[in-house]
Amino acid sequence: MSSNSFGKLFTVTTFGESHGPAIGCVIDGCPPGLPLAVEEFRDDLGRRATGKTRHTSQRREADEVEILSGVYEGKTTGTPIALLIRNTDQRSKDYGDIAQTFRPGHADYTYWQKYGIRDPRGGGRSSARETTMRVAAGVVAKKWLAERHGVRVRGYMAQIGEITPGSFDWGVVEQNPFFWPDAHEVSVLESYMDALRKSGDSVGARVNVVADGVPPGWGEPIYGKLDADIAAALMSINAVKGVEVGDGFEAVMQHGSQHRDEMAMDGFASNHAGGILGGISTGQAIVASMALKPTSSILIPGRSVNLAGEAVDVVTKGRHDPCVGIRATPIAEAMVALVLMDHALRHRAQCGDVGEVSPRIP
Ligand SMILES: Cc1cc2nc3c(=O)[nH]c(=O)nc-3n(C[C@H](O)[C@H](O)[C@H](O)COP(=O)(O)O)c2cc1C
Repeated sequence: MSSNSFGKLFTVTTFGESHGPAIGCVIDGCPPGLPLAVEEFRDDLGRRATGKTRHTSQRREADEVEILSGVYEGKTTGTPIALLIRNTDQRSKDYGDIAQTFRPGHADYTYWQKYGIRDPRGGGRSSARETTMRVAAGVVAKKWLAERHGVRVRGYMAQIGEITPGSFDWGVVEQNPFFWPDAHEVSVLESYMDALRKSGDSVGARVNVVADGVPPGWGEPIYGKLDADIAAALMSINAVKGVEVGDGFEAVMQHGSQHRDEMAMDGFASNHAGGILGGISTGQAIVASMALKPTSSILIPGRSVNLAGEAVDVVTKGRHDPCVGIRATPIAEAMVALVLMDHALRHRAQCGDVGEVSPRIP
C-alpha cells in the first residue's frame, strides 16, 4: 500500500530519510550462490555520490555499505539481503525555513497534504538520498545479470538543457563527471554549469540507458510488459517527468515502413522499438530514455505559501544539485537492472522449460 517495495520475484524494499541515522534496503528473492562483498558496491555508489565535483551538491557521505544478512562466507544464501548505509553528513539546520514553507516544485506540499506531518530535514523521504539504496540493490542485479546472462546495463547523459552531444563514445562516458559521451564538449559543460551555479538557477537533463545482451523472451504481455515496467521504474526516480522506450515520441512522426524493424537471419535491420515488442524482449539492445526536470531548490526567490497560509518568497539554501541529471545515470541503470532481474526470474519460473526456440535472430 505504501509502495516502498518494488518487483515481483526480485523484490527491493527501501527505507530511510535524507537526514535520519541511516538508509537501507531489503532485497528478497536473490538466487543463492552469488558471490557478494561490500567492496563491490563502492564503484556504483561512488558514481552516484555527491561532493565529488563542484557540479553536484557538496554533501559528502561515506556511503559505506554494511551487509546485515543474506550473505554467508561471501555468497548469497537465498534469504533476504539487508543492506545498510549510515548517514554521516546531515546538516539539518539548513532546512529550518523549509519546515515552515513549501518549496515550489518540490514534494513539501504534497507530502503535507497526504500525511499531515513531514520530516523536512533534507527533504526527508522525498530526497534523492533514497536512490542510494536503489543503486546498491542494482549492483546485485547487475552482477547476477552479467554472470548468468552476459547482460550489461550502461547509461549516459544525452542532454543538459539545450546541449546535446556532438559525437558518441562509450569509452568517454566514465571519464568525466557528467557521464557525457563526447570528450570535446566536457569543458563546454563545465563552463555552462559554473555560470548556471553562479546565477542560482538549475536546469533539466536527459539520461539514456542501454541494456545489451538481454535474450529474447523476457517480459510479459498485457499487464507485465517489460517496457511498461521499465517506464514505471524510471518514472519512479525523483524529478523524472518523461520516459521513452526506443524511438519514443519520435514515433509520432514516423511511418510504419520506417519504424518497423525489419528482420533477417543475420539480424534486425534497425532498433526503433528499443528491443521490446508486445512487452517482450526481442534480443536486441533495450534502449530507454528519461527526462529530468530542473532542481526546484534554487536561490532565485519563488512565490509560495507558509504553514499559516500566508504568501511568502522562498529561497532555498542548503546543498543542492544544480542539475539533478548529473547524478542520475547510475540510478537509471540500477532501475533498469532491477526490472530486468525481476523479469529474468519471472521468465525462468514460467517458461524456463521452453528453452531456445528456432529461428532465433542474432
Ligand atoms: C540524483 C538526484 C538528485 C537530486 N537532488 C536534488 C536537490 O539537490 N535538490 C532538490 O530540490 N531536488 C533534488 N532532486 C529532485 C527531488 O528529489 C524531487 O524533485 C522531489 O522529490 C519532488 O519529486 P518529483 O520531482 O519527482 O515530483 C534530485 C533528484 C535526483 C534524481
